[in-house]
Amino acid sequence: MFSKLVQRRSLGALCTNLRASISSAGPVATESSLEEALNSDYVFDREAKYGAHNYHPLPVALERGKGVYVWDVEGRRYFDFLSAYSAVNQGHCHPKIVNALKSQAEKLTLTSRAFYNDVLGEYEEYITKLFNYNKILPMNTGVEGGETACKLARKWAYTVKGVPKYKAQIIFAAGNFWGRTMSAISSSTDPSSYEGFGPFMPGFQVIPYNDLPALERALQDPNVAAFMVEPIQGEAGVIVPDDGYLTGVRQLCSAHNVLFIADEVQTGLARTGKMLAVDHENVRPDIVMLGKALSGGVYPVSGVLCDDEVMLTIKPGEHGSTYGGNPLACRVAMASLEVIEEEKLADNARKMGELLRAELMKTPSDIVTDVRGKGLLNAIVIKETKDCDAWKVCLRLRDNGLLAKPTHGDIIRLAPPLTIKEDEIQECSEIIHKTLLSF
Ligand SMILES: Cc1ncc(COP(=O)(O)O)c(C=O)c1O
Repeated sequence: MFSKLVQRRSLGALCTNLRASISSAGPVATESSLEEALNSDYVFDREAKYGAHNYHPLPVALERGKGVYVWDVEGRRYFDFLSAYSAVNQGHCHPKIVNALKSQAEKLTLTSRAFYNDVLGEYEEYITKLFNYNKILPMNTGVEGGETACKLARKWAYTVKGVPKYKAQIIFAAGNFWGRTMSAISSSTDPSSYEGFGPFMPGFQVIPYNDLPALERALQDPNVAAFMVEPIQGEAGVIVPDDGYLTGVRQLCSAHNVLFIADEVQTGLARTGKMLAVDHENVRPDIVMLGKALSGGVYPVSGVLCDDEVMLTIKPGEHGSTYGGNPLACRVAMASLEVIEEEKLADNARKMGELLRAELMKTPSDIVTDVRGKGLLNAIVIKETKDCDAWKVCLRLRDNGLLAKPTHGDIIRLAPPLTIKEDEIQECSEIIHKTLLSF
């Protein structure tokens, strides 16, 4: 490993030349011999030149991952405390999931839903029994899960609840994040999501999060079809609602004949210490959206679970996706769910989360003003000064071997793969302490 590192670093000059060729828009050096010479700066420059600037990544160029670790192109190892926004709950490149992908990839990958395939039904039976819903509608990304849930809610409102045609309303909570489509940004309260992209989707309303009286007021409108909510708001900065909020949501939605849609794309699949975050209050939503860790990070897989009264309102030809429910995705999803169960990742997330928060609480409160979270979905709030903010802390965490990303302003999410062990939590807590105290 060391000699490879030296060899790579000695190729720095070559990389400088490669970068020069990028900046002069000359031919791009893509030959495999030159690939060996990739260094981080080259990776950053190439993406900046040829890719859309729709992200602001932390400057680290990764090439390999295993379990809780990732390595950059110079061979430096890091603890991954983002887990691809909770998609890699099972750890990077989990062998069982990768093997499921490989063996199905050699057999049959995509048929489209124009034909049946021999895996989809097996997956549908498995996941619906696991989560105790009548049916699943398979899609690919989390945001498609949200679109699917909204379409189901509207269709149910018109065909079952009796809402007048095209008068259906869907309620969302302020601070929500469910993706980047026109519908998703139409419900967003974050200007960086919606500003400049109007006009927006009608029939959406936003109320404050964690506010049952506001929900009760909104539900007075008889045309409300659904309330979509994250059990813990991830992108908003790991906002944990009061105990009893989800129970209250369930009761109010039932009382007003409104569908409770739980967006478990980030909180689900053991992340918060239970299989679903709603399990902390033992409530059963009408619609559950899953994504991210449904594939353990190897392939985009999402799905929406609900019972027949809602699911069967959508008829053939009214919704779908070319890749949704393909055999590769189904095998990957089954393996990903099995890993969560076999390795008892929910239990581990609960225990390791308690340990991590206890360690983080030891940081002086003039540096970290809040530590919050459930299971291994956690955040710290940094007291911002002239020299210290969340971005700078994340850069220094990187230098000390741990990758995390600010969510909003002064908040850093800490969400490692759920396979992390006690000694690793201790080691990471020391890295975080050392980093914070260095400011
Ligand atoms: C709660 C929640 N819902 C939906 C999404 C959208 O998922 P995707 O990026 O796969 O479309 C996200 C993504 O971060 C999310 O956090």
